[in-house]
Amino acid sequence: MQDPSQESPLNANEPRANEPQADLSVLTVQPDTASTYRNKAGVKRIAVLTSGGDAPGMNAAIRAVVRAATFHGIEVIGVRRGFQGLHEGDLRRLGPRDVANIIQRGGTILLTARSHTWRSPEGRTLGANHLKEWGVEGLIVIGGDGSFRGAHFLQQEHGIPVVGVPGTIDNDLYGTDHTIGYFTAVETALDAVDKLRDTAASHERIFVVEVMGRHAGHIALDVAVAGGAEEVFLPEDEHPAEHIAAVVRASAAKGKASSILIVAEGYPGGGAAVTQAIEAQTGLDTRLTILGHIQRGGNPVSSDRVLASRLGEAAVLALMDGKSDLMVGRGHGGITFTPLADTWEKRKDVSRDLYRCAKTLSV
Ligand code: F6P
Repeated sequence: MQDPSQESPLNANEPRANEPQADLSVLTVQPDTASTYRNKAGVKRIAVLTSGGDAPGMNAAIRAVVRAATFHGIEVIGVRRGFQGLHEGDLRRLGPRDVANIIQRGGTILLTARSHTWRSPEGRTLGANHLKEWGVEGLIVIGGDGSFRGAHFLQQEHGIPVVGVPGTIDNDLYGTDHTIGYFTAVETALDAVDKLRDTAASHERIFVVEVMGRHAGHIALDVAVAGGAEEVFLPEDEHPAEHIAAVVRASAAKGKASSILIVAEGYPGGGAAVTQAIEAQTGLDTRLTILGHIQRGGNPVSSDRVLASRLGEAAVLALMDGKSDLMVGRGHGGITFTPLADTWEKRKDVSRDLYRCAKTLSV
């Protein structure tokens, strides 16, 4: 009989063989001491890369991967420039001292890229060969759904175990409550909105502020609520110009001399369309601020550092446990595992209740 103290807690909530396979994304593990984790898969060497748009906290995640692996006697290889670097063979050994003093730094010490070569099977074969030459037995990919797609194909075509760690400011990944970088991006955008409110109030002007979020309005909605905005425009909803003008007129009628309107980058036409609609329909003096890539930089806030640390460690433990083709996340009070394919096939909707709350509070 197996010694229960040696059983990996990563399996604690897994269904038994004769039980129906539940949605993997709702399986959670409870915190436990690291000493109880066992390298069931016998992994001796893993690799880590960051891919897609950078996000504050990626460095904290790299550090967590390297330190957790070292703790368990596993070597780590860092791949530079994401899948592009993997294709080109830009790999190097990463030890625990190589990741000293980076937990507080934005960006990614491994560099990142949006790789085109990785889209071809030939490109992926070259990358897989580099991993095999280096004796890598598992790959951790820190990035968004596009990066996870690349990882999924690597596992499908070459049998290399892969685990995804959600790193994107957009927070648009199904299977985790939050993604690494999101909290910092919201703080950065909020700081800008607070400053814009000062000048908006002084000049009695309308300010349209465009925040990042290509496909989802998570940043926009949180910034709107936390910044006390008069209205928020999400990629999920499109409004006619008359509605936009009506919002502005209604604010003025309620005695508001200035207004802040938050627009997600992915709203049809973005902040420019909203600004034009207001000016064309009302003739009111309106200013547009596009926050852009500033939201991707800066020191990660504590929530992102903690999330990155937990998920970086969880990714190593998952590989040790023989898991693959899934993303580690946070939800249901613990670590979640979501099949990689779900991250691009399923959608994490913005909270309609928070949207309702934002509308209520802008009365
Ligand atoms: O990483 C996500 C994101 O910041 C989106 O919000 C934005 O639309 C996109 O990346 C910008 O990408 P790039 O830096 O390649 O222009």
